Amino acid sequence: MTLPLFPDDARETLDPGACLLRGFALEQAPTLLHAIHTLTTHAPLRHLITPGGQRMSVAMSNCGALGWVSDKRGYRYTPCDPDSGAPWPAMPSAFSALATQAAAAAGYADFEPDACLINRYASGTRLSLHQDKNERDMTQPIVSVSLGVTARFVWGGAERNDKTRRLTLEHGDVVVWGGPARLNFHGVAELAASHHALTDSYRFNLTFRKAG
Ligand code: SIN
Ligand code: FE2
Repeated sequence: MTLPLFPDDARETLDPGACLLRGFALEQAPTLLHAIHTLTTHAPLRHLITPGGQRMSVAMSNCGALGWVSDKRGYRYTPCDPDSGAPWPAMPSAFSALATQAAAAAGYADFEPDACLINRYASGTRLSLHQDKNERDMTQPIVSVSLGVTARFVWGGAERNDKTRRLTLEHGDVVVWGGPARLNFHGVAELAASHHALTDSYRFNLTFRKAG
């Protein structure tokens, strides 16, 4: 499978090391959503509990060799779904290929994700400001794919109190961050009640990482 070269002028730099690739996943979006449906039949979306004991409003699942989980013991990656004890479903090759190509378009060659977090946002759902810091190798970027209902992504800096920007992420948009921006704070503002032809009232997000 080949993707057309992504035009340089369609790449929006957010900060050194971070960029937004508008529409990068648009063509593959229906395939991705179909795969999400199948994957979450095997490893259902669920509301994880934070170490502080709160139920996360975003529903999550995973595919790939490692999956991100949270419970009262903390945040970590596991090879198996704690609900079923079975390994997380394999990452479809269309997923890893897209992540590798998006990372390359953002300047990160040879990205090979071993973890894909599947997030589902319903209207009113938000994800508070956080860093992705449970991965072993911080030289590898994060690749984040937006599908369905439009969201407002909150993009901050290296410190929690740094100024934040709100970016509109639409169906098919991809954000990549690494290098000097790898540990930047980010989150998702409360999802508005809206509708998308392919996802109804939901937004899905795929976050690809090299976790192990
Ligand atoms: C995340 O930070 O894990 C998800 C970001 C998003 O949903 O855009
Ligand atoms: Fe994150």
